[in-house]
Amino acid sequence: MPDQLNDIKYVIEMAAEKAHAETSTEPEPELTQPLNWPIQCTLGPGLEGAIACESKIGYVNGTKGWLIYRGYDIFDLCANSTYEEVSYLLLQGQLPNTKELKAYKKKLIKYRPLNKTLRLLSGFPVEQMNVMGALRLGTNLMRQEFTYMDREEGRAPSVDAISSDEDSIPMETVPKGAKKATYEFKQEDPPKTKQEKQLQDACGIDACYHLISGVATITAAIARIRQGNMPIEPVPELSHAANFLYMLTGRKPTPIEERIMDISLILHADHGMNASTFAAMVVASTLSDIYFSVGSGIAALNGPLHGGANEQVVNMLKKIGNPSNVSAWLDKELKNKNKVVGFGHRVYKAYDPRARILGPLAELLVKDNHKAVSLFRIAKGLEKEVNVRLGAQKKIFPNVDFYSGIVYSCLNIPPEIFTPIFAVSRVSGWTARVLEYLQNNRIFRPRAMYTGEFNKKIMPRDQ
Ligand code: ACO
Repeated sequence: MPDQLNDIKYVIEMAAEKAHAETSTEPEPELTQPLNWPIQCTLGPGLEGAIACESKIGYVNGTKGWLIYRGYDIFDLCANSTYEEVSYLLLQGQLPNTKELKAYKKKLIKYRPLNKTLRLLSGFPVEQMNVMGALRLGTNLMRQEFTYMDREEGRAPSVDAISSDEDSIPMETVPKGAKKATYEFKQEDPPKTKQEKQLQDACGIDACYHLISGVATITAAIARIRQGNMPIEPVPELSHAANFLYMLTGRKPTPIEERIMDISLILHADHGMNASTFAAMVVASTLSDIYFSVGSGIAALNGPLHGGANEQVVNMLKKIGNPSNVSAWLDKELKNKNKVVGFGHRVYKAYDPRARILGPLAELLVKDNHKAVSLFRIAKGLEKEVNVRLGAQKKIFPNVDFYSGIVYSCLNIPPEIFTPIFAVSRVSGWTARVLEYLQNNRIFRPRAMYTGEFNKKIMPRDQ
């Protein structure tokens, strides 16, 4: 088994070598220096080109195909760290030492069980809901769990709450204006003591840890419920990646499966000011809370232009059916001006470094999987053909979604869970960027150019 883990490290190091040989080593000066507000930038629609803030969290260089978290190259992080270390790095600014890592893991493990949230969630028709909708609802319900947990541990000011097993909200039969039910989300009193203030401050980072563990637990539970199964209790001894796969599939993963899941989580943890991160930051900038922010990130990720392409890639490869069909299939698609899913990126105009890592990992995984090996061969054929036709000419290369679907299929993950897995990982980037932004918060408020009419008058209806 160590041999296979070494193989994983080796293929990542090889991918890194290739990437570094193909790209130069200087960052773009225009995107890597302190800002002196106000600044000038050239904008395109959808805020393309806009610089909204400074950040020390991560850097994407689209022309060179770089991805950096807090100064560390993504290839180095994937070869030599774990998702626990990377999420700590994103939130805390440096990799944890042994003692810090132990304490952080302990916190994540403590937050894994979400019994009350799952009980509340099971009151909704989860199996009929959009998966991302259920996940978003779950993070909202987690706000309640935190309130309860704080109360149980005597840590927070007490609030009147409807208990999670209460199954109905009383309604007035005659509207007398009786005092309405008090919900757990009501505004709490401001902290009165120093201790309460410290608690509130700590809630910021603790809520982030709560969400990092919780989004994984909820995703796994949703997958189980959709299959008609009960959610599975987390196992404290397992790593974040292994426990997630266990809760999802009901089987403890092999070390190879665990490591590949771990690397997939590292790869998706942060990616600059993408749409879901920006959505989370916009919500946080109103001083709403981190649970609502993460809920907005999940909502943004649901759109097919952001998350979800990996599921479509697997369907597309199945539809192509055979490597010998690739060329004719691609001709037809390009003739009809269709976009090939899993290719192209708003920022990367070079090979996406995440695809450079996921491609060889998919190759390692499909070796023992007859069904997946044929999909992988079709994928390789398609990559070659797209590269010839669109690579040099339009700078269209495989993106992160091209190989991740094959990887997840080999890990026995159902396709509808591919996009939620993105959220399981990205929650660390969302929360890290929200916390960073709040240190110098300014509410986001761009303007639109009004191109409507003026001076219209309301006419009486009979005229
Ligand atoms: N296949 C074929 N041609 C493409 C593709 C593609 N996948 N992507 C872009 N192009 C072409 C366009 O047709 C266009 O050509 P033209 O200049 O002749 O009109 C040119 O490249 C530029 O395309 P845009 O759509 O303007 O590129 P943009 O940066 O806005 O889009 C996007 C990026 C949305 C990712 C696009 O490449 C796409 O739709 N890809 C397929 C869907 C996909 O894989 N999404 C996952 C993205 S990764 C992520 O979010 C995690």
